[in-house]
Amino acid sequence: MIPKDIEVDLNRSSEALPKADLMTRLTGAQGLICQITDTIDDEVLAAAPGLKVISNIAVGYNNIDVGAARRRNIVVTNTPDVLTETTADFAWALLMAAARRVVEADEYARSGRWTRWQWDLLWGLDVHGKTLGVLGFGRIGRAVARRALGFNMRVLYHDTVRAEGAAERELRATYASKETLLRESDFVTLHTLLTPETRHLIDEAALRLMKKSAILVNAARGPIVDEAALVRALTEKWIAGAGLDVFEEEPKIHGGLASLKTNVVLAPHLASASFDTRKAMAMLAVKNCLAVLDGRPPLTPVG
Ligand code: GLV
Repeated sequence: MIPKDIEVDLNRSSEALPKADLMTRLTGAQGLICQITDTIDDEVLAAAPGLKVISNIAVGYNNIDVGAARRRNIVVTNTPDVLTETTADFAWALLMAAARRVVEADEYARSGRWTRWQWDLLWGLDVHGKTLGVLGFGRIGRAVARRALGFNMRVLYHDTVRAEGAAERELRATYASKETLLRESDFVTLHTLLTPETRHLIDEAALRLMKKSAILVNAARGPIVDEAALVRALTEKWIAGAGLDVFEEEPKIHGGLASLKTNVVLAPHLASASFDTRKAMAMLAVKNCLAVLDGRPPLTPVG
């Protein structure tokens, strides 16, 4: 789908380019298609005077200095919508796996230690009929909430602005303060963008408000949670467990999390990683880039 008159400089390695290489290769470029592992700051932009568009293959775009791009009249785009349902599926996979101890069960079943049916083996937490707290009620948060209808759950949500009444009614979701949501939810799932305001939204104080039996799910961005505080919360049993797809310093995982086997399920940032969705994200990113290079409005510009 790339027109013949467009020259493509493709990074064929699966690693992000070192910053200096990226800057050199961007010198004469008009468009950049990048991923969340590429940090696009003002210094990088200064090396790319001809750049017209930065097309991120992700819905989150905290890897890009959007303000700096705007000052240079560079359009920034992301890939919303195409990954909403897949990401919501995965948040639920983490929630279910953590609640019902699926990873421990798999390990046990393979271990050779399973010798008989056992009454008290690997008891977990019920999901159906419980309260789900959704922090961040955008597209993905709502898709996660929609799935809760099938589990007959009570849904509380919090966001900076309250959702339209129609959405609240359709999803049977109740607006709550962050504190009420944390206090009353059995499962708290995070779906905000990472911004200065949401960094460490879940800190020690937030974790201490949660129920001892609660599970935290994060398939948004690692730094939304204060990981050191989360390790304390899990180790000292302020909360019951966590399902995490994202981490503060990816790909590093806090040693305290990695060593907790019984109440934490970890994944290497792959909530949108289905065959169909990753292809759709790539296609949308290419379309956004080509649209701007062609003088057309992008399909999904950022904010
Ligand atoms: C992935 O993390 C995304 O933001 O799409």
